[in-house]
Amino acid sequence: MKGFVDEMRAVAMKLHTKDQAREGEKESVDPPIAAWNPSVDGYLKFLVDSKVVFETLESIVTTALHPSYGEFKNTGLERSEQLSKDLEWFKEEGHSIPEPSKPGIVYSGYLQQLAENDPPAFICHFYNFYFAHSAGGRIIGRKVAEKILNKKQLEVYKWEGCLSQLLQSVRIKLNHVSSGWSREEKNHCLEETEKSFVYSEDIIRLILS
Ligand code: HEM
Repeated sequence: MKGFVDEMRAVAMKLHTKDQAREGEKESVDPPIAAWNPSVDGYLKFLVDSKVVFETLESIVTTALHPSYGEFKNTGLERSEQLSKDLEWFKEEGHSIPEPSKPGIVYSGYLQQLAENDPPAFICHFYNFYFAHSAGGRIIGRKVAEKILNKKQLEVYKWEGCLSQLLQSVRIKLNHVSSGWSREEKNHCLEETEKSFVYSEDIIRLILS
């Protein structure tokens, strides 16, 4: 039987460009990843801002700002510790770590506000940010590593245990939490998907800055 998370996924897949994913429907504006010319400085900005967003998501579910968020504690998808280790590694390699920049700070503030006032919209961002990282995020990580990191695999792209099982148990929790929502709340959650793409794409673009 199909659950609400299938609806969330369908909306997200359509918002990909055709060169990002097979199910994508949008025309691309940015060059495809294969044609990227990333720099370590740009990639570090992306990692720092991604960490700001993961920390925000992780602190929101840990404090269970809304009772339903408690289900998403310790899913195994958390990424802020791994990102800290990766940034430490870059530091040891002699790179200076930038301060968080606007895309991460702005998104983090928006998430905090949604978490307090609008659980269905917050859950939409929670889903998209973690699942994007496990899909497109890994593609980005591999490409950047090939081009500028001598294929080094960062900690942020490693999960303890089987990633597909971790994702599956979060899908079950998402279906469970959303089963208490009205159709209007579900539609409101789906409508938020576009914003989650806009905010994430601003962070991804830092790689090319
Ligand atoms: C899934 C690529 C950006 C959200 C996927 C998949 C690919 C992909 C290849 C897997 C499709 C499949 O299951 O066959 C990319 C690339 C991106 C990108 C290359 C950018 C360069 C994003 C962004 C978001 C997003 C910005 C939202 C913030 C998702 C979601 C899924 C997905 C929710 C479904 C994952 C699942 O069902 O397990 N993406 N994506 N993606 N992506 Fe992206």
